[in-house]
Amino acid sequence: MKKQLDESLAFTPRRYTNIPAVELAQKLCEQSPSGLDRVLYCPGGSEAIEMALLLAKHITGKWKTISFYDCYHGTTWQAAAVGGDPHFTLGQGPMVPGAFHVEFPNYYRNPWGLDHRTEREHIDELYLRQIELILKHHPDMAAIIGTPIASAPHVPSAYFWQRVADLCVEYDALLIFDEIVCGLGRTGTLFACEHYLTPDVVVMGKSLGGGVVPFAGILTHDKYNCLQDRSIGHFTHEKSPLSSAAALAVLNYMQRKQVVNRVKELGEYFRGSLLELQQQFPIIGHIDGKGFLIGIDLVNDAVTKEPAMEAAQQILSYCLDRGLSFKLYEGNMITMRPALIIGKEEIDFIVATLRGAFEAVGQ
Ligand SMILES: Cc1ncc(COP(=O)(O)O)c(C=O)c1O
Repeated sequence: MKKQLDESLAFTPRRYTNIPAVELAQKLCEQSPSGLDRVLYCPGGSEAIEMALLLAKHITGKWKTISFYDCYHGTTWQAAAVGGDPHFTLGQGPMVPGAFHVEFPNYYRNPWGLDHRTEREHIDELYLRQIELILKHHPDMAAIIGTPIASAPHVPSAYFWQRVADLCVEYDALLIFDEIVCGLGRTGTLFACEHYLTPDVVVMGKSLGGGVVPFAGILTHDKYNCLQDRSIGHFTHEKSPLSSAAALAVLNYMQRKQVVNRVKELGEYFRGSLLELQQQFPIIGHIDGKGFLIGIDLVNDAVTKEPAMEAAQQILSYCLDRGLSFKLYEGNMITMRPALIIGKEEIDFIVATLRGAFEAVGQ
């Protein structure tokens, strides 16, 4: 970035492109699953979600959407409307019309009380039924948008996403994956969709700018490059050479240091250590996630799965006092998204601190 600032352009107006932006587009297309061969940039993740939705609406000529209650997609109007958390929409009156929401698959806490170890496909069918019903009654559906792996995290089965993709084909809607959190290496593959299938649009953000500059964008198929007479982006800093230099540095670093492979290997080591903890501490009801996107569902009772809200708060305080920070999702689920460059030592520290916390709360 410094080189770009010192020796070349810091900014290009919209009508011009620039070399780092073009090189980045080439790299993203090379490194993403085959078929994702068009890129459009913008400054932030919420804006990238807007672009993905606008693209879907233009392409299909339809306007409704299906999204998931458990997914956050940003704070701009349409992104907030497809997001599932009322925190971002309450008191605002009607949001975007035609934005339907369904439940994201959660096998451990499925509402039907089915066994998450033995009845996954049955659970999938029940979640899919909600989507199918809406599609049947709303033929003007433009897109289904979701995070391939929910940030909580919950990891849907390959079967679930394949069926959703099939439904999108059947009902002529686009499938949009929001990879703003789970993309760029976090789950042990460069793109989270690699665990599943190639959607119509992948949305990137956050780490694309290396944590230094805001930068985001969408990746899509060449056949959708058909809006020459419309603008679905049109941001002043849409293809910033500075942000592109940052993103190129991110991708080059990740390639050079084999970050994705490390996340995959160390993610398994991390998970293995947590599974060992689970043998000793019944408060650990369930461990979910992939790579460096990890969740621990804390329960007071393994059978009733009553969320261990109070103990979770105590565990968080204990860990914060010792330099380990994480977020509690829904009050009882420890969610961890460590930096992709951490090593075994840091993982051992995390696990040892958690062990101390579980011992301290007497569980
Ligand atoms: C999954 C997901 N989508 C979209 C966004 C919005 O991105 P931004 O904050 O860059 O607008 C976020 C931000 O936290 C996110 O986590």
